[in-house]
Amino acid sequence: MLRQRRSMKVYDPNRAVTEEQLAELFELTTLAPSAWNFQHYKFIVVRDPEQKQRLRQAAMGQEKVEQAACTIVVCGDLAAWKRAEDVAREFARKGFYGESTEEKIAKQAEMMRNAYKNNPTKAREEAIRSASLAAMSLMVAAEDMGLATCPMIGFDPNAVAEVTELDDTLFPAMLITLGYAGDFDLPRCDRLPLSEVVNIDRLGVPFGANQT
Ligand SMILES: Cc1cc2nc3c(=O)[nH]c(=O)nc-3n(C[C@H](O)[C@H](O)[C@H](O)COP(=O)(O)O)c2cc1C
Repeated sequence: MLRQRRSMKVYDPNRAVTEEQLAELFELTTLAPSAWNFQHYKFIVVRDPEQKQRLRQAAMGQEKVEQAACTIVVCGDLAAWKRAEDVAREFARKGFYGESTEEKIAKQAEMMRNAYKNNPTKAREEAIRSASLAAMSLMVAAEDMGLATCPMIGFDPNAVAEVTELDDTLFPAMLITLGYAGDFDLPRCDRLPLSEVVNIDRLGVPFGANQT
């Protein structure tokens, strides 16, 4: 699946993605891991033609935003830590804390809250991490379902927030076009050799360096 996935630049404008396909796609997407299972993300599926037009303007005029069946705004959630109590209770219920007491649950919830509450940088970084892992899961799941995607960072975050009416707790981390592939057959750009991106034990020991 990973070998087939491409960032699809051209879409068939006449093929929609059904509600059932979206349900399947997001069920798979939300299986992505997130720190403490906070799921620091929300998705806005933009598919109304007028909304797509406005989103395209916010996304540097990228044509595929209007051409694809929809564009998903992957939002990071800065307030996910507010679920700490519920999350700690579920962890306890499912046995992750072993023998658990009310005191232990309260302590765990407090630890989770403290990690983010007064640390907006960490809350934002965590939201980007979780949203990005979910975004990749979405793209792989879409590929598996015969759908094409393209991740995009070419957009004005304030304009996207305005178009999709986000509140202060959410920010657009990425856009992903979703639909059926159009006429696009440019080859994939090369990846760096593994010796440049993988090191063993420490930086400066490239993968494969000790092979004879
Ligand atoms: C975070 C991110 C932002 C990207 N932004 C855009 C974008 O705004 N427009 C676009 O056409 N492609 C965008 N891409 C797609 C990349 O150009 C593409 O993934 C890369 O060239 C590798 O091609 P491949 O995914 O087909 O292997 C983005 C990819 C990532 C991961």
